[in-house]
Amino acid sequence: MNILVTGGLGFIGSHTCVELIANQHQVVIVDNLVNSKPEVLDRIEKLTGVRPRFYPVDVTDSCALEAVFATHPELDGVIHFAGLKAVGESVEKPIAYYYNNLVSTMVLVDACVTHRVNRIIFSSSATVYGDQPSPYREDMALMKTTNPYGETKAVSERILSDVAGANPTLAVTLLRYFNPVGAHPSGLLGEDPSGIPNNLMPYVSKVARGVLPILKIFGDDYPTPDGTGVRDYIHVVDLAKGHVKAVESDIQGVKVYNLGTGKGISVMEIVNAYAAVNGVEIPYEIAPRRPGDLASYYADAGKARDELGWVASLSLEDMVRDAYRFETSNSHL
Ligand code: NAD
Ligand code: UD1
Repeated sequence: MNILVTGGLGFIGSHTCVELIANQHQVVIVDNLVNSKPEVLDRIEKLTGVRPRFYPVDVTDSCALEAVFATHPELDGVIHFAGLKAVGESVEKPIAYYYNNLVSTMVLVDACVTHRVNRIIFSSSATVYGDQPSPYREDMALMKTTNPYGETKAVSERILSDVAGANPTLAVTLLRYFNPVGAHPSGLLGEDPSGIPNNLMPYVSKVARGVLPILKIFGDDYPTPDGTGVRDYIHVVDLAKGHVKAVESDIQGVKVYNLGTGKGISVMEIVNAYAAVNGVEIPYEIAPRRPGDLASYYADAGKARDELGWVASLSLEDMVRDAYRFETSNSHL
């Protein structure tokens, strides 16, 4: 199939391009490089032997996006990763988040309808479930989101569903990711946030390499087995493969799938696995809970298994090993 990948040079998008190409799909990438580097294209080529067509275009720019669609009448579907994703920054700059994430979704789906590209796959997040007991199931009612980033995901889901309602030939797949971590096993692709990381795994990687002195564990008094926060961490390569399954499925209408492992892992388990698998020390201290954090959440991953034939197969050991390999591979972007 011919797939347009927005945000295709980012963390999840780049891994997905590699898996799409490995499965004989043709990829066209649009990315405005706001959170990625052009060198990622070289890495994709190095890993696959194929250099996808790349347009340094902002998806909110309807004229520029129209030109891409006009140049590629062969497109069968779109995977929409392009978006801003930092929760804290979204609280400080709500307009930037609402504008970028919502306008890009509207401009893109409008182009899909105009050009009769009838399949769109959207990067949503488990954050749309809000605060309710796990496992999260796709048929649960969504609860109030707690920050502008999360709200852009909930509203984008709604926009895409409404457009699909008005255009019955348009198939919309909403993929709700849990906590993507790890890196490509080659060490060539991974997540390299600028500045001090907010998320756990990139922070642990910096502590492991000695770039940051100590990990703060945000709370050890949660009602979880060891008192630290529990999440459903998923290897980015598994996540990327989930997109290939979603693209290849012939589902119609609006479908929602959790992409998680279905298993909760605590902060302490991550730290211990990272240290043991990589033979490194992770100095840590217990700090107060981080405002806005939930104690525990994880996916019911059964629907993606039953309907897409997808299950996450990589282990916690794979996640921490590949994260550390990327951190120490000297191939930072
Ligand atoms: P990322 O920042 O690495 O990738 C996003 C890419 O989109 C970047 O390359 C960036 O340059 C590009 N981009 C942003 N706005 C754009 C625009 N207007 N036009 C063109 N390109 C634009 O992030 P990621 O971790 O790969 O996440 C991909 C998607 O998945 C995002 O929509 C994110 O919100 C969503 N998501 C991510 C996570 C996570 O933990 N990483 C969890 C749930 C959902
Ligand atoms: C966060 C976002 C979520 C987003 C996701 C992307 C919030 C409230 N949620 O999820 O919307 O989709 O990132 O991956 O920001 N932790 C520490 N020390 C640290 C960093 C994290 O103890 O230095 C703990 C957290 O308290 C949490 C766990 O590690 O229990 C995971 O945190 P993180 O990686 O930031 O992800 P989430 O908070 O689950």
